[in-house]
Amino acid sequence: MPLIFALKDNFFPGLINSQEDLQANNTIPIEAAMRKIKFAIVGCGRIAQRHAEHINNNGVLVAVCDIVSEKAKAIGDKLNATAYQNIDDLLDNESDIDVVSVCSPNGLHASHTVKSLRAGCHVLCEKPMAINVHDCKEMIREAEKANRSLFCIKQNRFNPSVAAVKDALEKGILGRVYSVQLSCFWNRNADYYENSWKGTSDLDGGTLYTQFSHFIDLLYWMIGDVKRAYTLTANFAHKGIIDFEDTGVVAFEFYNGAIGTINYTVNSYNKNMEGSLTLFCEKGTVKIGGQYLNELEYQNIEGFEFKDLPQGNKPNNYGTYEGSMSNHDKVYENVVDVLLNGSPISTNPYEGLKTVEIISKIYQSAKS
Ligand SMILES: NC(=O)c1ccc[n+]([C@@H]2O[C@H](COP(=O)([O-])OP(=O)(O)OC[C@H]3O[C@@H](n4cnc5c(N)ncnc54)[C@H](O)[C@@H]3O)[C@@H](O)[C@H]2O)c1
Repeated sequence: MPLIFALKDNFFPGLINSQEDLQANNTIPIEAAMRKIKFAIVGCGRIAQRHAEHINNNGVLVAVCDIVSEKAKAIGDKLNATAYQNIDDLLDNESDIDVVSVCSPNGLHASHTVKSLRAGCHVLCEKPMAINVHDCKEMIREAEKANRSLFCIKQNRFNPSVAAVKDALEKGILGRVYSVQLSCFWNRNADYYENSWKGTSDLDGGTLYTQFSHFIDLLYWMIGDVKRAYTLTANFAHKGIIDFEDTGVVAFEFYNGAIGTINYTVNSYNKNMEGSLTLFCEKGTVKIGGQYLNELEYQNIEGFEFKDLPQGNKPNNYGTYEGSMSNHDKVYENVVDVLLNGSPISTNPYEGLKTVEIISKIYQSAKS
């Protein structure tokens, strides 16, 4: 009996009706699996367009909300979803939403997630999970209390070169990691921050949160947790434009003894230049590069070669600037797979919290 409840709670509420359902084939009934998952989007800006597209491919968008009503209406009209101007009205009026996709500014992720969980919805939260560790813990606590799934987005993990190197690390092909170099050289000019939450300390939080949290996630995912960091930051070209640094250099040590450096900036002249991670390991050296960690630029490994890596997705293009590779298709496929088939969450909230914790550690050390 407890097993049934445990499984049932991990799946969709109401999808498993009896012990026989489970015993018959250990899967959910076919008619339930055919049911489309109902989604809502909170925050209808740039990344929400990507979400809407993949919701449409994987489920059904029933409601959207944005404090700017035209933005909610634009997506709502396109996909036949009801538009609201605030999250409370949306959650009060839409009782059968399965998943809320939180696409609002970073500093609102925690409150929007908690409200959605309390309303009984699963939540897919954009990166970064929040902009402080306390909020991440509250989000996890609420998810546990509500017995709902909380998904975080770390789509760079799906880049073919990243996934291949992670696999090689897990299989011991590269041996022990000695040291790493993470380079994040992007361009974000004044226009990008104009009339936006971006660049503000309360809603954005810092360049590592908005531009480079995907990259920090990969350090944690591929190598491990960061024990300590020594950081220098500066604002060279964005004084009076953003509340925090536009550039930083970090030296750090992992708990497993490996050491590394991060060199990051949004001052790459005129355009994004590079997003790369180089690993110096016992049995080989690899560099995942390109602008978005999308190419395997260098490899020299004892008795092994990465061959024929598939072409990844293109970067997200926002018109005047580009961001990380557009792997939201894989994110939504995972959401559906978790909710309908009980598969593991590809990025769970604990991992979302670890990214925020490492970034907090880096910023703390910049102050000391
Ligand atoms: N995974 C990725 O690759 C990726 C890429 C871009 C952005 N993001 C993340 O997605 C989030 C949104 O970023 P964006 O670039 O789309 O920003 P955006 O400014 O284009 O969109 C945010 C939207 O939220 C709305 N909003 C603000 N306060 C609100 C509230 N209280 N209730 C409802 N809506 C509200 C704004 O009006 C705006 O339309 C951020 O957390 C960002 O870090 C992730």
